[in-house]
Amino acid sequence: MKKTDFAVQKFFLDFAQVLESLPDAVMVIGNDFTVRFVNNAITTLSGVSRQEAIGKKCYDVFPGELCRTPACPMNRIGKGVKKLRYETDKHCICGRSAPGTMTASAYYAPDGTMAGIIEIVSDTTPLFESRERFRKAMGSVIQAMSRTIEMRYPYTAGHQRRVTKLCRAIAKELGFSWERAQGLRMAAAIHDLGKILVPAAILNKAGEMTEHEMAIIRAHPQTAYDILKDIDFPWPLAQTVYQHHERMDGSGYPQGLKGDEILFEARILAVADVVDAITSSRPYRPAVGLKEALEELKSQRGKQLDPVVVDACVRVLSMGKVKLGLEKQNPGKPETNRI
Ligand SMILES: [Fe+2]
Repeated sequence: MKKTDFAVQKFFLDFAQVLESLPDAVMVIGNDFTVRFVNNAITTLSGVSRQEAIGKKCYDVFPGELCRTPACPMNRIGKGVKKLRYETDKHCICGRSAPGTMTASAYYAPDGTMAGIIEIVSDTTPLFESRERFRKAMGSVIQAMSRTIEMRYPYTAGHQRRVTKLCRAIAKELGFSWERAQGLRMAAAIHDLGKILVPAAILNKAGEMTEHEMAIIRAHPQTAYDILKDIDFPWPLAQTVYQHHERMDGSGYPQGLKGDEILFEARILAVADVVDAITSSRPYRPAVGLKEALEELKSQRGKQLDPVVVDACVRVLSMGKVKLGLEKQNPGKPETNRI
């Protein structure tokens, strides 16, 4: 063996020992998503042995919500993001879940090209468990609020649930992190909370609304904002709900915000809300089918509705990633901004 080969081999041996001694789980993944190296801490954290991991595809051994999406660390780092840090909860092939704080960065071949990524996961199980309990409790409270609103208004029973489902799919399509998508889902689940102050006779009215009645209905984002604004959610929940009737061209309410003045989450909520509103019947008009709904969406692309979100929504619906609870397929005139 040449002197230099021996030096290189010794270096890697020493380096591997350093990685093995770390309390954090370390995994090296090649550009082709093949797991090249894992240290002992991976087994402690995930229950997956070195033999089960090395040489396999990372998305098979450690499947997670980001796998095969544009938000996958390999894809993001490959597109120039230098370093990623986020909360993760990988579900391993052995059935265990591995919650942790993940740091991912690129590793490079001697010629300077990216050869893959190095992922380091710090075990946050105790922290994760107490946070999960809090999250579940908060989710249950949100669900209870959501059901309370829907019980008052039979015509939109299930509306918030369907909008939540569509928001979740759009968020995934757009590469949202799990954490950010969770905030959007919470906002979607209670976006019509403010209708709690609208008399049921007005909400369920089949005929033309008077100007006064419309003003009462259009106050619902403000009412929801007033209820939510002092609750310290880890997401911009109050603002998202407040802005869900704003439109990109400034034609929405209550503030008449335009374009980037509207939170991105609220723009997604607006699109999902419109889709569900026009594919469900209302006291004042029948439901329309998916085809008409997609046409209506496209006609408002870049006008009332965010083009990026519309495109993502059209993809999600066209590919059948979300099934809308489509009602009787009566052609009717879609109204995108009444409620
Ligand atoms: Fe609304």
